[in-house]
Parts: sequence; C-alpha cells; structure tokens
Amino acid sequence: MDLGLQGRRAVITGAGRGIGRAIAFALADAGVHVAFNYLRNRKAADETLEGLRSRGVEALAMKANVADEDALREMFAAVRERFGGLDLLVANAASGVERPAMEITGRHFRWTMDINAWGYLSAAQQAAALMENGGSIVAISSLGSVRALPYYTAVGASKAAIESLTRHLAAELGPRGIRVNALCPGVVDTDALQFFPNREELIAEAKSQTPLGRMLIPEDVASAVLFLASDLSAMVSGCTIVVDGGAHILG
Ligand SMILES: NC(=O)c1ccc[n+]([C@@H]2O[C@H](COP(=O)([O-])OP(=O)(O)OC[C@H]3O[C@@H](n4cnc5c(N)ncnc54)[C@H](OP(=O)(O)O)[C@@H]3O)[C@@H](O)[C@H]2O)c1
Repeated sequence: MDLGLQGRRAVITGAGRGIGRAIAFALADAGVHVAFNYLRNRKAADETLEGLRSRGVEALAMKANVADEDALREMFAAVRERFGGLDLLVANAASGVERPAMEITGRHFRWTMDINAWGYLSAAQQAAALMENGGSIVAISSLGSVRALPYYTAVGASKAAIESLTRHLAAELGPRGIRVNALCPGVVDTDALQFFPNREELIAEAKSQTPLGRMLIPEDVASAVLFLASDLSAMVSGCTIVVDGGAHILG
C-alpha cells in the first residue's frame, strides 16, 4: 500500500533496538529518510543504520541522551543540515527505575521523568521548529499511564505526563499544521522487559489475555506509527491510541 510517505524525513529517538528499530525499518520501507539517536549501545545502532541504508533511504545515527537539551540541539542541527527540515518525530526512547512506590528516591524519579517526559517535550520543541510545512509527532506511551502496575510507579507517572504533554502540544501546534498523538502499546518482548522482576508473568498474561490471540510484536507498533505519520490520519490529533490486541479491555 502506498501511504504517500516517500521522501518524508523522520527523527526517531532510541531506535538502536526494540520498538524504535522496528519503527525505523517500517518507515524506511515506506521511503522515509530516518535520523535516530541511541544512548549507549553503538553496535545495535550500527545495525539499525545498516538496515536503513540497505532499504535505500538516507540515514543518520547519533549518540545523544534525550534528557540532555544541548545534545538534542546538536542532533536536530545535524538533521537540519542533512535533511533540510522534518516531517515526523517519533519520541520512543525511554528509561526508568522499576521499583515499588515506597522505594523510589528523588534521584530515581527525576531520572525517569527527565528522560521520558522532558526528553519528549524537549525533542518536540526542537522538531516542531524544523516542521515548516506541518508534520506529525508521535510519542510512545504505555498502559502504565492509566493503570497501577507492579514496579511501574515512576515510569507510569512519566507516561501519564507524556499523554498530557501530547494534548497540550496538539493544541498549541495544531494551528501550524502539526498533529501530535501518542501510542500506547501492550507488552512487547524487547530488552526493556529484562528490567522487570515480573517479566515472566507479564509475558504469560499478555499471551493468555489478549482477545486477538497473540502477543504484540514491535512491527504492530510500527504499523500504527505509519498510520499516524501518513495523511490517512489527517484529522487525528491529541489522541492516545491503544495498540494491544484488545488486552486492556479485559481489566
Ligand atoms: N516493551 C514493552 O513491552 C513496551 C510496552 C509499552 C510501551 N513501551 C515503550 O516503547 C518504547 C520503546 O521500548 P522498547 O521496549 O523498544 O525499549 P528498549 O528495547 O529498551 O530500547 C530502548 C531504546 O531507547 C534508547 N534510549 C534509552 N534511554 C535513552 C536516552 N536517555 N536517550 C536516548 N536514547 C535512549 C536505547 O538506546 P541504547 O540502545 O543505546 O541503550 C534503545 O535504543 C519506550 O517508550 C517504552 O516505554 C514498551
């Protein structure tokens, strides 16, 4: 299906691995030029870069912590220089300390909020400045934004902030032709799950309690990004869309 994305320019945060990489490849398959950043894992980032180039699009990888405003500024300056502008931002990078509420310290909380919530807002500010002909911003949230999940205290709070920021950005950037939405994926078996003490339970539940009968894979999230990036979603803004095979409706 031609989504009309050929030649568009995207930045994806945290696309060295996992869901971000699947989004990068899906966009490249649709003809989108992709710049992305990573934090520490250079080898994985090189593999993503190679995968993008083999798909025939322009690709750029940069090491930049999304919580570091100056690093992001340098990254978006490089994107301006290479691509001349921007059509899509996918704010995917996330980190966080998985602990019960009573064990979260100020340092844990600030680390998580700085990367997940401020990193998103900061990237959106800089991306919007490059979107001279309108564009689309997609943030990756999670169901912990509205649910109390074990160990998810700080990350859940940061995801709730992401969804609120999405609404505020959508209201402010709409008049400039920039749509802003969030996606809320169910459980996906990426490296991120290794940090959850209850990983096995999460996976077993996702397998047994998804009406559509299987666990989510990164490509399911990438497909939803394609929709939000394309003109098929021309009048969709300020939304959080759940992509989880229906698991959330089972309580
Ligand atoms: N997996 C799930 O079940 C699930 C469910 C719902 C929502 N999500 C959300 O989906 C998104 C991607 O998750 P994932 O499972 O693919 O995670 P992942 O496999 O852990 O990958 C995270 C990526 O983000 C990068 N990153 C982390 N902190 C960063 C920072 N401060 N600055 C720049 N890049 C940073 C990592 O870079 P390095 O490779 O250099 O470390 C890596 O490329 C996250 O927003 C996550 O909360 C995941």
